[in-house]
Amino acid sequence: MSMEKIPLAGVIGSPIAHSKSPQLHGHWLKVNGLRGHYIPMDISPNDLETVLRTLPKMGFVGLNVTVPHKEKVMEFADLVTDRATLIGAANTLIFRKDGRIHADNTDGYGFIQNLRENAPKWNPKAGPAAVLGAGGAARAVVASLLDAGVPEILISNRTRVRAEALKNDFGKRLTVVDWVQAGNMLEEAVTVVNTTSLGMIGKPRLRVPLDGLRKDAVVTDLVYAPLKTRLLAEAEEAGCVTVDGLGMLLYQAVPGFERWFGVRPVVDSAARAAALR
Ligand code: ATR
Repeated sequence: MSMEKIPLAGVIGSPIAHSKSPQLHGHWLKVNGLRGHYIPMDISPNDLETVLRTLPKMGFVGLNVTVPHKEKVMEFADLVTDRATLIGAANTLIFRKDGRIHADNTDGYGFIQNLRENAPKWNPKAGPAAVLGAGGAARAVVASLLDAGVPEILISNRTRVRAEALKNDFGKRLTVVDWVQAGNMLEEAVTVVNTTSLGMIGKPRLRVPLDGLRKDAVVTDLVYAPLKTRLLAEAEEAGCVTVDGLGMLLYQAVPGFERWFGVRPVVDSAARAAALR
């Protein structure tokens, strides 16, 4: 009998029942013929440290991290990547053989990769980007857009001080726009991103006026339930290239899977279908 250890990975959060990651990673393990398991775990903040000390000793090679642990896990990591530090949150942990924990944030990578793969003509340098929202997801989006070379980011959030905090952290290429004027910033933007939860099933609709959308804009929504939000439907109507938010979820998962299981997984329609199951 083989004594080879079966690698374990998973996702920690609370609640965790709605996470799409187990189906996605399970699909990739299967199509790649790999031995391994990916397990969702509902972990309370009080147990976080114990869990992070224990799992590496139990055959876990790493974890994805979701709400509410994305900030706190960085305190227990031995190495935090620059981009995770900049964003202030980690979504991917690597448990190294020497016992050390590495923390990374792949959300920005997922966001950019989704646009590059699904809107191949997208040119982030062609003009300003407009970002709706200034929460945790917006931080990863802003960091990655700046990294991709956008000349300016117009950012608008219901709670204006959160947008101003982002400007403080990310610098002079950001311009804060009042939430009641969010529609105006679309007139200049060649990249438009909704990072708020507005438009998600069960949440209020996004009421920002969209008549200012340029037809040469690439428009994307981090909301993926429904896949076609009002923002994307109206953008499509206006002649824009639109990219739904499911791709970001798929691409942000790629680096973790590759590090843990040694195979770079493919993002294709079968992976999309698996994540939607
Ligand atoms: P995430 O990590 O998904 O970004 P978050 O940090 O809670 O989650 O941020 C949620 C975003 O959606 C914020 O920009 C939030 O605006 P506020 O900072 O004003 O709360 C936005 N959002 C949520 N509900 C909203 C609503 N009803 N109207 C306007 N914006 C809303």
